[in-house]
Amino acid sequence: MEKIILDCDPGHDDAVAIMLAGKNESINLLGITVSSGNQSIEKTTLNALNICQYLDIDVPVAKGCSHPIIREVEVCEAIHGESGLDGFEFPCLKKELDSRHAVQFIIDTLLNEKDKVTIVVTGPLTNLAMALRLEPKIIEKIKRVVLMGGSYQMGNVTPASEFNVLCDPEAAHIVLSSNLAIYMITLDVTRKVLCYDKIVERMKKINNKASDLFVALMKVFNENQHKVFGYLGAPLHDPVTIALIIDESLVQFKHTNTEIDLSHGSSYGRTNSDLFDYLKKEKNSYVSVDIDVERFWDIVETSLKKYEVK
Ligand code: RIB
Ligand code: CA
Repeated sequence: MEKIILDCDPGHDDAVAIMLAGKNESINLLGITVSSGNQSIEKTTLNALNICQYLDIDVPVAKGCSHPIIREVEVCEAIHGESGLDGFEFPCLKKELDSRHAVQFIIDTLLNEKDKVTIVVTGPLTNLAMALRLEPKIIEKIKRVVLMGGSYQMGNVTPASEFNVLCDPEAAHIVLSSNLAIYMITLDVTRKVLCYDKIVERMKKINNKASDLFVALMKVFNENQHKVFGYLGAPLHDPVTIALIIDESLVQFKHTNTEIDLSHGSSYGRTNSDLFDYLKKEKNSYVSVDIDVERFWDIVETSLKKYEVK
């Protein structure tokens, strides 16, 4: 069983990552920390609380940084909508936030756990970067970082850069300079797990609370991803991080050097991964290069089935 903290910006695909982590016997979800990103911190935090309450995922939820370290907040309303999780009406919210800031929650949890903990990040890296700066001692308590972010080919929200990294490139630089074991689930791989209508229909047959939420969210996610990027099935980015923890053989990686473009030109926020090792720089990341697509959808289906019937 792997102990994890999931740092996210829900977000439709973040919601599916929470679903995969919430009831899996191979994962001990110690808590969920929230960042701004897909929407403002207020909205992403509300979404995280609603998802956990609706699915009876009884873990602490801590609200994190409202802004990136340097940049201004840049939400992604075109994909995730005004609420950040358009498409589903949750029951009246009763679940309360953990009293600590997400950065403090990460530090406390890591220092108090006897085992090493994996940090999964499916949004901007602001909270983790701030925790590393505030308390460097946490480094020896982190087993690995598994993040959704970057691309060694095309970006999405700019030709060069992927949204999570572009939201806070300086935070990404801090994390990639930390000497931690960093597994990057990049767009190059997440663009292979496309949530076509046949996948939605497959999950709809599960007919429980989790599949109802999945179907409702994927309807909006697919519509918006088609409007913006032309996809017939949306790339289901974030849950690949959790699926990897459930099945280590799911994703193939290349150990390489990755640097973040911090210049303020048109490539700002790009992840430059030297897959050929041409520059012979220190290898600081494991970059995703392939995925077993069928196995991924099997993991999603099996995970949704772990939730209670309606
Ligand atoms: O670029 C994809 C990433 O940006 C995903 O994490 C999605 O939720 C958005 O945050
Ligand atoms: Ca996300």
